[in-house]
Amino acid sequence: MHLLQVVGARPNFMKAAPVMHALATREGVRQTLVHTGQHYDADMSDVFFQQLDMSQPDFNLGVGSGSHAQQTSEVMRLFEPVILDSKPDIVLVYGDVNSTVAVTLVCAKLGVPVAHVEAGLRSFDRSMPEEINRLVTDQLADILFTPSVDGDKNLAQEGIPKSKIRLVGNIMIDSLVRLLPKADESTAAKTCTSGLDRYGLVTLHRPSNVDDTDALRPIVDALCNISRSIPLVFPVHPRTRQQLNGLVSKSDQRRLRLVDPMGYVDFLALQKSATLVITDSGGIQEETTYLGVPCLTVRENTERSVTVSIGTNVLFGQDMARR
Ligand code: UD1
Repeated sequence: MHLLQVVGARPNFMKAAPVMHALATREGVRQTLVHTGQHYDADMSDVFFQQLDMSQPDFNLGVGSGSHAQQTSEVMRLFEPVILDSKPDIVLVYGDVNSTVAVTLVCAKLGVPVAHVEAGLRSFDRSMPEEINRLVTDQLADILFTPSVDGDKNLAQEGIPKSKIRLVGNIMIDSLVRLLPKADESTAAKTCTSGLDRYGLVTLHRPSNVDDTDALRPIVDALCNISRSIPLVFPVHPRTRQQLNGLVSKSDQRRLRLVDPMGYVDFLALQKSATLVITDSGGIQEETTYLGVPCLTVRENTERSVTVSIGTNVLFGQDMARR
């Protein structure tokens, strides 16, 4: 069997790695790996391939950044010849990024079966680009691998036949479990927490939080306030870096430490030892749940509702000042 996997953005890599490793031990399975190039900086992509022991992609489409329409259409345009040439038996896509939906559309139109890993999650908020990607991908996919029972329920409500759905659990946590022992070796994590006996960890990159300075400024002000009680380490996503200029004063940066994006193992090390995590990421809500670290999510809703029902995650909302 020839299986073609597609990854594009940072949160895809830790989901694809365990599948690639497991399939590498199966006789009769040939794998092709396509990287769309949605994420391309060394610290957003290459470092994950190294730390997750992933083989280099067979194809890199190099689509890069752009508006949603540009990025999605560019993946479609460049992926079509690859699939026509490689003729896989099945294509595996991950998560909810633009590359996921773009590849699924191409496959559906060419009649190539698609399996979606992390199917069924819903925030029920269609202003979130990822929700659109999830809805479209799940309607078109032939096999839907769900991480949790709420995923199965959501898909059933959308009329997806049960026969297409497989509850497999959260594959991203397989990467976490495998690499957690390496976390203690992270020098990058030690460097950015040097001199701190306790700290909070922050990530922000949701467009609704960071693209508009009027939305970002009160969040940053709240973080500066929190940092007076507990120092915060903040690996800054490139999307956020562009907006953050001038919002954090030099004196605030002593307690709110702005650092470059981290590799997988390094970020795991930071999460594992954090007193709390403040984030708007999806995956980090789940990783902190596994690690038992309290997580405050700077969003009004979540597609990862199990993290709230288990009790590690609290939806803080976007307006942090009202708390
Ligand atoms: C994307 C995903 C989001 C995921 C996030 C993880 C979509 C719609 N969004 O958001 O679901 O949570 O990845 O990081 O697919 N940039 C760089 N270098 C890079 C990549 C991006 O500088 O390697 C900058 C560019 O200015 C770009 C911006 O970051 O315009 C946003 O990148 P993009 O891939 O469009 O969206 P993310 O915010 O990363």
